[in-house]
Amino acid sequence: MREFDTTAADFDRIPFGEQFTPHMVTAEWTERDGWSPPRLKPFGDLSMSPAMVGLHYGQVVFEGLKAYRRGTDAVACFRPADHAARLSRSAHRLAIPALPEDSLLTAVDLLLQADGGCLPDRPGLSLYLRPVLYANEANLALRPARRYAFLLIAFVTGGFFSDRPDPVSVWVGRDYTRAAPGGTGSVKFAGNYSPSYAAQEQARAAGCDQVVWLDPVERQWVEELGGMNLFFVRGSGRSAQLITPPATGTLLPGITRDSLLHLAAGHGLAVREEPLSIGQWKAECLDGTINETFASGTAAVVTPVGTVRDGAESWQVGTGLAGPVTLALRDALVGIHTGRAPAPEGWLRT
Ligand code: COI
Repeated sequence: MREFDTTAADFDRIPFGEQFTPHMVTAEWTERDGWSPPRLKPFGDLSMSPAMVGLHYGQVVFEGLKAYRRGTDAVACFRPADHAARLSRSAHRLAIPALPEDSLLTAVDLLLQADGGCLPDRPGLSLYLRPVLYANEANLALRPARRYAFLLIAFVTGGFFSDRPDPVSVWVGRDYTRAAPGGTGSVKFAGNYSPSYAAQEQARAAGCDQVVWLDPVERQWVEELGGMNLFFVRGSGRSAQLITPPATGTLLPGITRDSLLHLAAGHGLAVREEPLSIGQWKAECLDGTINETFASGTAAVVTPVGTVRDGAESWQVGTGLAGPVTLALRDALVGIHTGRAPAPEGWLRT
């Protein structure tokens, strides 16, 4: 465990998920009392039964949201109510009693009041907030637990890949699938993440940064990256289209994805949620129809995809660097995060 130490932190090379702030917020659920009010505590280790349900059967869901500095005294949290609503949907899918959405907002306020000052006034840095709901009953019966806990912790972070919009390379996963129809792919279930590590290791071995997941049935429709949604830009100028795979149940409907769909319409882009096959992606990159592709997510923000590798084949997207639509959308989103641009109603909580 590493707690935040402003004197030791090297903000030019800040690793994702390591610089935790000094406090956390907790709440507990019991059958008798429901959810307790959220309470601020020092960040510290938890004690648990070796028979805790979350550990054995993975009844755990989480969220990821960010707060950004607004001048010297304030931080603003991006779309916390939408994250609270998604946490409720995730809880429902895992038969976890949903935390009241107001309790998540209260927890965010408590943690930001206590630890908002840990976020340095430096471009590119944010406080990543990680709420988690987990079953903590000590009982190995195969049924939903009868005790749950909530935790909210935070860490200071830069970009997930880099602080700059440097392009990443992606590798098409062919051996495994991420999510099945009727499964848990559309919610933030903890167990969606570690099963992607084997494919992620294959991507790394092939010299790539991330895995591209294909649909689990026909194995040809591009779905998402591990923990990030995907966007494609077809055409340019006035006829440019922004395409993203439809959220039909096997991919996570990202809050950043939703934000970009909203902002793109204001940038004069025709927005289409439609399936794109891996064959189309390749052919349209090669003939210049698709000239940009980028990943989006709370952690990744907007990250250009420069090259795609599929087995022995590989191809470049556009120039292989961040394209104009990618940069414009990234700038529009970061402008809202940092207060440079006005935010749509309800997006920021200060
Ligand atoms: C996020 O973008 O916030 C995610 O949850 C993806 C990953 C870092 C877990």
